[in-house]
Amino acid sequence: MTEERVFAELQSDASTLHESIRMHLERNFAPDARKYLRSFSSTEAAEFLGLAPGHLRKLHAEDKIPDVPLDERGRKLYSADDLAQIRLALARTTRDPSLYLRGRVGSEPLQIISCVSFKGGSAKTTTAAYLSQWYALHGYRVLVIDMDPQGNASTALGVAHSAGTPGTWEVLLDGTPIAEVVQDSPEAEGLHCVPATVDLAAAELSLVNLVGREQRLKRAIRGYLAENEVDYILFDCPPSLGLLTLNALVAASEILIPIQCEYYALEGVSQLMRTIQLVTDELNTDVRLSTVLLTMFDARTKLSAQVGEEVRNHFPQQTLLTLIPRSVRLSEAPSYGTTIFGYDAASVGAKAYAKAAAEIARRGAVGVDESRGE
Ligand SMILES: Nc1ncnc2c1ncn2[C@@H]1O[C@H](COP(=O)(O)OP(=O)(O)O)[C@@H](O)[C@H]1O
Ligand SMILES: [Mg+2]
Repeated sequence: MTEERVFAELQSDASTLHESIRMHLERNFAPDARKYLRSFSSTEAAEFLGLAPGHLRKLHAEDKIPDVPLDERGRKLYSADDLAQIRLALARTTRDPSLYLRGRVGSEPLQIISCVSFKGGSAKTTTAAYLSQWYALHGYRVLVIDMDPQGNASTALGVAHSAGTPGTWEVLLDGTPIAEVVQDSPEAEGLHCVPATVDLAAAELSLVNLVGREQRLKRAIRGYLAENEVDYILFDCPPSLGLLTLNALVAASEILIPIQCEYYALEGVSQLMRTIQLVTDELNTDVRLSTVLLTMFDARTKLSAQVGEEVRNHFPQQTLLTLIPRSVRLSEAPSYGTTIFGYDAASVGAKAYAKAAAEIARRGAVGVDESRGE
């Protein structure tokens, strides 16, 4: 066989392969696929509603809340919409509606949490997606802004983000109001997401020449908050320091760093800490590192335990008690087009994220204020 023929055959194989990968991706991970909302069991529903399971059964028996459909084995199934309707019904019958219609009250500060790490694959997106869904399933109003051109958070939350879909790019570059590009996530009632498309990759360069280039997200958020009630805002950042991450740091009130329990874990964290210091000094914000989350923890290895200990020594106040274990179910969930609460809410991974979210909610913005006083 001549060299040209070998080359031609290789090229034709390569393009066949390329085309089948493209088709596979499109079939299985369609960027505009609307997801099916998974239903929750009565135990899960009771937890989300903040009721004892027995109390939930009693409310149904007394017809005080809307009925829900049964599965083929006769068990109740709750959709996210059912949860929202039940919350409304409960709020109507109680003297203190805030028990069921959660949300910030009075002067409680709004938590604007930026998930940052300069390392790819450290579970920023996974964390942002699960925390936001957990808050929304518990009745809070949540806004997620996808700052990563890869759009993984948009995929995880099931919002359209094919090229040309208006989203973060328009907000940052054109000053389009967030309200005009935000989409409802089918993952939970009250969960909204500003999608990121591949177009956003060019934003780093295009932003350079704009006035107030680090403040554009902050300004957009301020505009949104003037007209909309939100309890939590989360940013999912790209794994690098550029104007996208910088905008997220400037707009945030607090920073969450997920740290993967592996050998190079702390590399990059010191660079990130210096950056945060620079941002607070130079750009006149009071953003603080509030939360460190240890992820992909493997209880069988010494290394995971050592890294965990080292991180805790570095960030004694910020490191959550909850560890996220390495879990196959967690890594599988996105390929089923859902997050862990939708895929397998009973799995260790889902339970760990639920615990971490509860811990952050419990600490609230108070934890941030404490660290401000340092
Ligand atoms: N606890 C975990 N156990 C196993 N796999 C995980 C876990 N957390 C995240 N993953 C997987 O690791 C990969 C990287 O996570 P991702 O959240 O996309 O990181 P980042 O946004 O920081 O790049 C994804 O494939 C994700 O499904
Ligand atoms: Mg990511």
